[in-house]
Amino acid sequence: MIDRDTINRILDAVKIEEVIGDFVSLRRKGSNWWGLCPFHPDRNPSMAVSPTKNLFKCFSCGKGGNALSFVMEHENMSYPEALRYLAAKYNIEVVDKELTPEEVARNQRYDNLLVVSDFAQKFYQDLLWNNDFGRTVGLSYFRQRGYTDDTIRKFGLGFASHHPDTLIDAARKEGYKEEYLIGATLCVARENGEVSDRFYDRVMFPIHSISGRVIAFGGRTLKKDKNVPKYVNSENSDIYKKSDAVYGIFFAKSAIAKEKKCYLVEGYTDVVSMHQAGITNVVAPCGTALTAGQIRLMKRFSPDVTIIYDNDEAGINASLKNINLLLEEGMNVRVLLLPEGEDPDSFAMAHTGDEIRDFIEKNEEDCISYKCRLLVDSERDPVRKSRAIRDVIATIAYVSDPVLRNLYVDNLSKKYDQKPEMLFKEIATLRRKWREERQRLEQRKEMEVSSGHLRPVYEGQQPPPVSEEYYEPAGDLLIGDVYSSNTPMDVSERELLYYLVKFGCYPIHFVEDMLYGAQKREGVTVADYIRSALSEDELEFENPLYRAIYEEFYSLYGTLDGSLNPEEQQKQVVRFLSAHNNDSLRKTVLGLLLETHTLTVKEYRLSIAPEETILGVTVPKSMVLYKLRITEQACIDITKEIAAAEANGDLECQKALMMQLQMFNQVKNRFAKELNRL
Ligand code: GTP
Ligand code: MN
Repeated sequence: MIDRDTINRILDAVKIEEVIGDFVSLRRKGSNWWGLCPFHPDRNPSMAVSPTKNLFKCFSCGKGGNALSFVMEHENMSYPEALRYLAAKYNIEVVDKELTPEEVARNQRYDNLLVVSDFAQKFYQDLLWNNDFGRTVGLSYFRQRGYTDDTIRKFGLGFASHHPDTLIDAARKEGYKEEYLIGATLCVARENGEVSDRFYDRVMFPIHSISGRVIAFGGRTLKKDKNVPKYVNSENSDIYKKSDAVYGIFFAKSAIAKEKKCYLVEGYTDVVSMHQAGITNVVAPCGTALTAGQIRLMKRFSPDVTIIYDNDEAGINASLKNINLLLEEGMNVRVLLLPEGEDPDSFAMAHTGDEIRDFIEKNEEDCISYKCRLLVDSERDPVRKSRAIRDVIATIAYVSDPVLRNLYVDNLSKKYDQKPEMLFKEIATLRRKWREERQRLEQRKEMEVSSGHLRPVYEGQQPPPVSEEYYEPAGDLLIGDVYSSNTPMDVSERELLYYLVKFGCYPIHFVEDMLYGAQKREGVTVADYIRSALSEDELEFENPLYRAIYEEFYSLYGTLDGSLNPEEQQKQVVRFLSAHNNDSLRKTVLGLLLETHTLTVKEYRLSIAPEETILGVTVPKSMVLYKLRITEQACIDITKEIAAAEANGDLECQKALMMQLQMFNQVKNRFAKELNRL
């Protein structure tokens, strides 16, 4: 944990043009710096870097943010990684939060486990290259598979000899403790107290963490004997959680980000062969069925994934199962069916990189059309066909982006001559069901936690993530549908938020101090105005992300030093929100800051007065517009209720609702008039 003071010190020191200048050559033009945008192919400098605003923005691809988000994006770093990077650049000491003795002990243990894992990797690798037996058996096996020496070195492949005490003996000699070898599941304690190696008589695939540290192994036997398991893998340990680890991610991450796309294959040899063929944006789950944790790790680098599994029954079934899982995590999913009998390993070995790329491009297919083709189109029996269509509908229901979902529904309804309303209804029902299930589950968990039956996941024996390796932003604020909507209501809420984030601490009525030419915070601020206008009608933002930003804003606003002038105060607000550790929140705030704001109220769009001088007009106008939207929405809702009451023949209810509607209509008209007058 990096404490807030340290974060502030880092952000104070950062000069955005220096940070970006390390990666992109910048030239000064006026008050801004300009350079080639690194986030899209750019021939003329279209990225502007503003030292005064501490923001960058590409006018061609639209990407923008602050120094922190630039480093995160450009270097594929997590939030804390990027902060540490900036701290190192500006020689700022990062004081980690005071650790308890238990935490110190636990960190010590992680370090020790990482150290013995690293030792084991080097040991196995050394046996492969420098031991006679290792060379003749292990190295020649890899070479026979078609691996080049470069590939074997790149992935740190190794060899474990047939004596099940080779590693433990060597480790003891070097002074490594049994406790840690067992802890890293490299060795096993037998019942009689003897300790022996987990891996023997196998070639070894080390598994690297996202930052390239060895955290586990997979060992493949060289025996043809069916009774010997083909692969033996490390067990879960304090440094390795199977369900969160992705094989190859360290070697693939920058290619995934660069190509904006990830290929998902089945296992070790698929990853290695594809990399050798020059396709490096490839990863595989680690010895388990694909999990949400693994998907989230992949998604950090790109939301686009193509599943490339064996073209056999098992491979196809696995791909079908994983489509839903990937969609549920918000990925865009495609599937590539290889020629019959091939797996990614054999296919990669038999073709050049260009051939593979070409084949993928021509043959990969959207996951929904893949399912249609596979399950529905081949089906003649009407009952089974309708079941298959249901199956596809359920998959569409997993899609988190509503726009994409609509497109799929559109296609499906045309393709199979189904009424779109019917499909939408089915999808809505499924999604509601899932949501309720999830809520029920969460409530149960909460109740169990509060009654002490169940400890929260990371308390107790379950260790927190190793340093920042598995850092995951608290993304739970982002509730897909609501957030991504662009309804008039959403736009209106966003507009009010814009004023808070940009001018919240400014006086709503511009006062110029004639003597000093400086503004003072005098009277009601924009923040005061907005808060009282909302609370007067007991209104709350509907969009949960906006609501969270609103709350975070006011939690800070209350603590600001009143003797500072408005700009200074606003700077603190911006600094706090734009470095917030919640990813969605931070991104939204940055988006607001970057918005060349076009007021929904037309005549002010062309206004040339500095924005802070006309807040007294624009903010109340936005507020009235927002309230108008709310009453409009209420009128729509009531009209629907009236129709429902009518359908039920409930006259009483219908009459009461009519009265309500009339009232809301009056309010609505009042707001509309007021808006015109303002
Ligand atoms: P052959 O094709 O018979 O030479 O064996 P292989 O080592 O290629 O394994 P196989 O084709 O049976 O397995 C398919 C893919 O799954 C390969 O990429 C394997 O490396 C991989 N695989 C098998 N077991 C595991 C496992 O436990 N963990 C991981 N991560 N991959 C595995
Ligand atoms: Mn294979």
